[in-house]
Amino acid sequence: MLIDTFGRVATDLRVSLTDRCNLRCTYCMPEEGLQWLAKPDLLTDDEIVRLITIAVRDLGIDEVRFTGGEPLLRPGLTGIVERVAALDPRPQMSLTTNGIGLQRTAAALRDAGLDRVNVSLDTLRPEVFQAMTRRKRHEDVLRGLEAARDAGLTPVKVNTVLMPGLNDDEAPDLLAWAIAHDYELRFIEQMPLDAQHGWKRDGMITAGDILTSLRTRFTLTPEGQEERGSAPAERWIVDGGPHRVGVIASVTRPFCRACDRTRLTADGQVRTCLFATEETDLRTALRSDAPDEEIARIWQTAMWGKKAGSGLDDPSFLQPERPMSAIGG
Ligand code: GTP
Ligand code: 5AD
Ligand code: SF4
Repeated sequence: MLIDTFGRVATDLRVSLTDRCNLRCTYCMPEEGLQWLAKPDLLTDDEIVRLITIAVRDLGIDEVRFTGGEPLLRPGLTGIVERVAALDPRPQMSLTTNGIGLQRTAAALRDAGLDRVNVSLDTLRPEVFQAMTRRKRHEDVLRGLEAARDAGLTPVKVNTVLMPGLNDDEAPDLLAWAIAHDYELRFIEQMPLDAQHGWKRDGMITAGDILTSLRTRFTLTPEGQEERGSAPAERWIVDGGPHRVGVIASVTRPFCRACDRTRLTADGQVRTCLFATEETDLRTALRSDAPDEEIARIWQTAMWGKKAGSGLDDPSFLQPERPMSAIGG
């Protein structure tokens, strides 16, 4: 079991498969990209599967999410999914992607054993998409979303970050569109995890702003707390149901007390929290033929040291060195 000193048990593992991405979202990374991890530093497919096996078999992980950067850029993704699906007990498996390439891969990923996907999309307007991601790929994302839904990778969730002056007028339109296409829309408050360190609390669209905007067109009723469990998204029933809309308010309504997550970076470091400033190396143990029990023990010790929360409200808050794109959200 992966338990911390606050009694929280991690059952959800987020695995970053690459730090690279084919978009350049302005709230995430600069135009020129970042200094990518070197190939020899990346875990191999075999190493990733071994760590997930230890997590599932020995440490109580029952849900695995693949993230990036952009996880569809990892050539071995389908094979990794297939091998994880063969584990006993078989964990739930999901993917967080920008949707580019999903049109081609959704059916194969489902056949390999993937259960569902979350796709990032911030706007319905191609020109705004280009301004926000610096790439002309809006249509690819829309096609990827449809392919995921048609392949049964459901519920397909859409993640949206609203940025002032760019897409902050689109919340009601996005919700109407998501309902019409049977996607579950979630708005994410912008977090201080961008590589450029450009985040400002007073320049951010808050959960409160988002709800006010949605309520100009929809009636929202809060879903019960029991239904939320440890999910980052707080959900509202739209116009009496059945559709829901979520808000992930890491900044203004933090949910750290219910956190059930542990993270693995593409270069084999355990992160106890999205905002952790320290990491624990598993790769060295993996590559020095440490037995599974020793790797499990290192992982447990790391999680025991998990902090109470993100620390966003502490005056001493420091942004982690590793940017969001290399942590995997
Ligand atoms: P499901 O609800 O299980 O579908 O997944 P999810 O919402 O946890 O995953 P996803 O990868 O779609 O993440 C959506 C947003 O939630 C991203 O912006 C993540 O950075 C954020 N998020 C995920 N886990 C955490 C967390 O532990 N803490 C905080 N503050 N944000 C998180
Ligand atoms: N704050 C909030 N969300 C972010 N994402 C990327 N960077 C940030 C940030 N600084 C979102 C992406 C994706 C999800 C995994 O995280 O848009 O939907
Ligand atoms: Fe890529 Fe995601 Fe960062 Fe956008 S937010 S550049 S899709 S890693």
